[in-house]
Amino acid sequence: MDTIYLDHAATTPVHPEVVEAMLPYWTGSFGNASSTHSAGRGAKLALNDARDRIASFIGSSSSELIFTSGGTESDNLALFGAAEAGRSRGSHIVTTRVEHHAVLHACERLSRLGFEVTYVPVDEYGQVSLVDVQEAVRPDTILISVMHGNNEVGTLQPIEEIGCFARDRGIVFHVDAVQTLAYEPLRLSELPVDLMSFSAHKLYGPKGIGALYIARNTRFIPQGYGGSQERKRRPGTENVPAIAGFAKAVELFDRNRYEYREKVERLRSKLVHELERRLGKEAFLLNGHPCERLPHILNISFPGISTETMLMNLDLAGVAAASGSACTSGSLEVSHVLRAMGLSEERAGSAIRFSFGAGNDEDQMIRTAEIIETVAARLRNKI
Ligand SMILES: Cc1ncc(COP(=O)(O)O)c(C=O)c1O
Repeated sequence: MDTIYLDHAATTPVHPEVVEAMLPYWTGSFGNASSTHSAGRGAKLALNDARDRIASFIGSSSSELIFTSGGTESDNLALFGAAEAGRSRGSHIVTTRVEHHAVLHACERLSRLGFEVTYVPVDEYGQVSLVDVQEAVRPDTILISVMHGNNEVGTLQPIEEIGCFARDRGIVFHVDAVQTLAYEPLRLSELPVDLMSFSAHKLYGPKGIGALYIARNTRFIPQGYGGSQERKRRPGTENVPAIAGFAKAVELFDRNRYEYREKVERLRSKLVHELERRLGKEAFLLNGHPCERLPHILNISFPGISTETMLMNLDLAGVAAASGSACTSGSLEVSHVLRAMGLSEERAGSAIRFSFGAGNDEDQMIRTAEIIETVAARLRNKI
């Protein structure tokens, strides 16, 4: 049975051209980028070239981009680095209730270290409003962290408006753009954002490599100690093969971004239409913003069928989907994002996230809808 993989928001397969681009740096050009001999210089060259290409993709200068081990580290580094650097000015941080745990758990730790964190609410679509952010800000606010696109429901946040406000008030602004890098064109030199997190494995790059954009003159204190790599902002020998792979992944998107976006949007619509046709519109509910959203994420509740049961049945039938929820001691907790959106227990407890990618096609969408129809008929008849 071929698996229908509909979990691209969790991770994507590594593109063959990305694998190809990484190969030379495992054995042949394996030097340490800090070494002064020719092997080291070769690695350094690859490192600089990758940084230039990724910086150009996001519209920043190369010196504003540092490599990390992924989105989680970038979020942590951004929050702890900006919080420590801002401490003499104040100790208040503003974020939202729908951030990834890499931000929320970092904020919990910062609270234990004496910072005060305000969690701004979201509306029923998972969107935060500028007014709520403005109301949360105080004279001692030093940092605002708001994600670009939500990983569970795909809702986009008004980062430009929030960024303009933050800049006016002299508050450092961090954005988690892990889910959006592939989809939303960025010109960071023109965006009022000070820190932005990225990860390679969401766009067909390798896992364990990411980047943090740190705008020039941002108040930031490095959080690791060691060598002087990454302009002393993130010590440790650079993972050159993964970095070369990250740059290749970005380059592939640079060439095909619009076709790709259209493709995943088409697949998303196809699955919705097939479900409407087979189950009827009243049999499921779409979660997230209807238009201000990422194209590859579709979050649907099937009332009467718990997330766990649906996921298990889909898995047995060869469909890999996800819930946004964390699995604790074998059972799923209701997602903090759906809870923050104020969805009923029943709706939040029956939500499934499908996320689409390059390997999917319309036949798979038809097959998935067919499987859901069978599963739903079986389970609902039992109730
Ligand atoms: C919005 C968001 N932020 C951060 C992360 C963490 O990224 P990584 O898996 O590279 O640590 C993810 C991963 O799912 C994410 O979706």
